[in-house]
Amino acid sequence: MNINDCLNYDDFRKLAKKKLPAPIFHYIDGGSDDEETLKRNTEAFNDCDLVPKVLANVGKPNLSTTVFGRKISMPIFLSPTAMQRLYHPEGDNASARAAEKFDTFYSMSTMANTTIEEIANVSSGPKIFQLYIHKDKSITDDLIDRCKRANFDGLCLTVDTIVAGNRERDHRSGFTTPPKLSLKSIISFASKPKWVFDYLANKKFELSNVKNKTEKGTNITKSVIQYINEQYDPGMNWNDAEYVIKRWGKPFAIKGIMSVDDAKKAVDIGCTAIMVSNHGGRQLNGSRSPFDQIKLISDAVGDKVDIILDGGIRRGTHVLKALAAGAKACSFGKAFLFSLSAGGQKGVEKLLQNMRDEIERNMILMGCKNLKDLDYSRLIFRR
Ligand code: LAC
Repeated sequence: MNINDCLNYDDFRKLAKKKLPAPIFHYIDGGSDDEETLKRNTEAFNDCDLVPKVLANVGKPNLSTTVFGRKISMPIFLSPTAMQRLYHPEGDNASARAAEKFDTFYSMSTMANTTIEEIANVSSGPKIFQLYIHKDKSITDDLIDRCKRANFDGLCLTVDTIVAGNRERDHRSGFTTPPKLSLKSIISFASKPKWVFDYLANKKFELSNVKNKTEKGTNITKSVIQYINEQYDPGMNWNDAEYVIKRWGKPFAIKGIMSVDDAKKAVDIGCTAIMVSNHGGRQLNGSRSPFDQIKLISDAVGDKVDIILDGGIRRGTHVLKALAAGAKACSFGKAFLFSLSAGGQKGVEKLLQNMRDEIERNMILMGCKNLKDLDYSRLIFRR
């Protein structure tokens, strides 16, 4: 199978699994505890059905929407995800280029393997930066100021990862950053010689945006769980979010909002968007899924902020359902990381093309010309 044969999530996932050493594949694929939330994130979309309207003569639907103050060509973009050099030698550069081609957002993680400045050179497409607040507050200020200079469109602050979720797959596989050969992992690395060759032949692995402030994760090997627990500030609060908004002064989202009360607070402190997300089922297992919660949140604040659904998206129809329930756009992490692992920039482009085709085709079948035609009357829940 090659990248052009990848028609859906399972195809990309299978091809990624063939190429990646097991600890890296499972770092993408896994969730926390018994992974019920990870599963629910996608399953939630199956509890309701789309209601088409026929004979609507919609022609070519308009898929564009505006979030983070920038118009994008379709209502799906790449979620911020850490350490993309592990998945493909070109890492974030490949993702940013693919997103630019499709005129949608690429999102850079605080834990990226390339710098804010390099990405600004690689792509003039839509870009947001994802911020983790480290205990060392000078890291936050430095990242915000650099994103401003590099002209990123938006910033999102992740708030659901103040301690690491219990990712048992990572404990078992011995996944670390940088990756390290250990008794646990040696066989899985040895069985993927092409990955090992690419990894060693290319740019050294580092946490490029924070390496000047901490050696951990760059020159000092850490499990991701240790990194989060040692480095991120568990005392982060609303004042910190407000501080970031003021210092940044451009479109801003909190990522990881799940309750209506928090959504209202986010509006009060000046967020222009919220990302309804449970971190891909990797943090609080047993949490609500974003799709189960989106209508409640949209009813409360949908007229005041842009609502982005992050979690569980695998199909164009998932995006349509999310929009009908009140989201303005969606983002996906796992689907996109499998496409990056499977085929680099070409892989991500293939995924985005598949999604664009699916969204467009299903808009036509729904009888919808514009995304705003997807309202709650077009969705019926089975129970
Ligand atoms: C994770 C963090 C690093 O989910 O975003 O692994």
